[in-house]
Amino acid sequence: MSGSGQGRKRRGKPPRGRAANQSGRLGSNRRQGAPSPRGGGQPPTEIDPEAPRRFLATAARGTEEVLRDELVSLGFGGVATVPGGVRFDGRITDGMRACLWLRTAGRILMSLGESRVRGPDQLYDAVRALPLTDWYHPKASIAVFARTSDPHLRHSGFTALKTKDAIVDAMRDVHGRRPDVDTKRPDVTMVVHVRDGRARFYLEVNGAPLNQRGYRKRDVEAPLKETLAATMILMSGWAGSGPIHDPMCGSGTLAIEAALIAANRAPGLEREFGFQRWPAFGAIETRWAALREDAASKCRSIRAPIMASDIDGSAVMAARANAHNAGVGDRIMIRKADAREIGPLLGGGTFVLNPPYGERLASDDPMLGKLYDRFGAAMRAHPGHHVTLIAPQALITRAFGDSPLHHIDVRNGKIPCRIATFATSDGR
Ligand SMILES: C[S@@+](CC[C@H](N)C(=O)[O-])C[C@H]1O[C@@H](n2cnc3c(N)ncnc32)[C@H](O)[C@@H]1O
Repeated sequence: MSGSGQGRKRRGKPPRGRAANQSGRLGSNRRQGAPSPRGGGQPPTEIDPEAPRRFLATAARGTEEVLRDELVSLGFGGVATVPGGVRFDGRITDGMRACLWLRTAGRILMSLGESRVRGPDQLYDAVRALPLTDWYHPKASIAVFARTSDPHLRHSGFTALKTKDAIVDAMRDVHGRRPDVDTKRPDVTMVVHVRDGRARFYLEVNGAPLNQRGYRKRDVEAPLKETLAATMILMSGWAGSGPIHDPMCGSGTLAIEAALIAANRAPGLEREFGFQRWPAFGAIETRWAALREDAASKCRSIRAPIMASDIDGSAVMAARANAHNAGVGDRIMIRKADAREIGPLLGGGTFVLNPPYGERLASDDPMLGKLYDRFGAAMRAHPGHHVTLIAPQALITRAFGDSPLHHIDVRNGKIPCRIATFATSDGR
């Protein structure tokens, strides 16, 4: 959701003030490297932590149902799937808990309200009517991100600019000063979606996208997003106790996400979130500390054998370093091996993999086709296993046939792909 949208492709023509960039985020006027005030050190604003709130957790297209299942199993209320995400209800604590625990969500947005709008002036008035002083303060930097497919507000950049103007004017009226705009590391980010004459306003709760768990310091070519890797593990049916092996591990993302799931480790336990920079953070700080403490107490030791291998020695080194950063380095066996010669897992188990493909590697490339034939045959030779992989559909069919147990269609970056799970029950 954050990366696309019709309105984001066009450049808006701002009437005055600072230009907005193509992504619909406002350009920065903060001095490079200037320190940003931190949540705890900022002047407090008043919010009611007990007030009911509505949230939207965003998901990569095609993965909404996996995210929905996650929210349900974590006990969130009012869960409903929408294109590109899942809505849920709760208190502000639930927004923080979603950041801490969700493995497949991209962002957590908290609704500030919605309004019918027809054009920029009505948008401005709608923003001014929001409870801005609860969340904003001149000392806290701001960013606005807009996505629009509305005929009366066609340009996302202009929509973001108009929204920013309203926030800045509100701060000037109340405090006599305006906040800085900072797109790189804002303290408070507003997200605006405009469609069918309706504007929806959200505060971004997470800050940096949730896929940026922080453990992947060494990348290989074409690493999988952490959230998509978690989606694959959750879709594979692996219960966290039997053997699991990624035989084309690259930087190790799939095996690391599997280990975090087996350890019941909240993926956000070691990171900072955007809400910690809110002026209102003082009112919820003790609740955040309690959530983290509770999550830390829920970690358990990993019993499952988790394996990762790759034909490329530098990928093996990267996977080892990243697993170490994630705190699961001693729980994953990582080695150099050729997936075309893979052996069975003890007592059966799960293979998860993200084989090579890409814009540069056409799906009808004979070398690539041969690779899929070979590793597909090697895995199908071991009855009693499950295989979950992500690849373009034609290549998946080539390796494993066209009768998966289940599948979803997604995009990996720009490439249309499928995540499919097969059983090797008959060994054919
Ligand atoms: C798309 S990358 C995997 C990225 C990985 N999921 C990550 O998140 O970093 C594909 C990997 O397959 C590996 N590979 C290609 N042919 C292989 C083979 N025959 N056996 C094992 N690994 C192979 C490549 O070295 C590469 O690291």
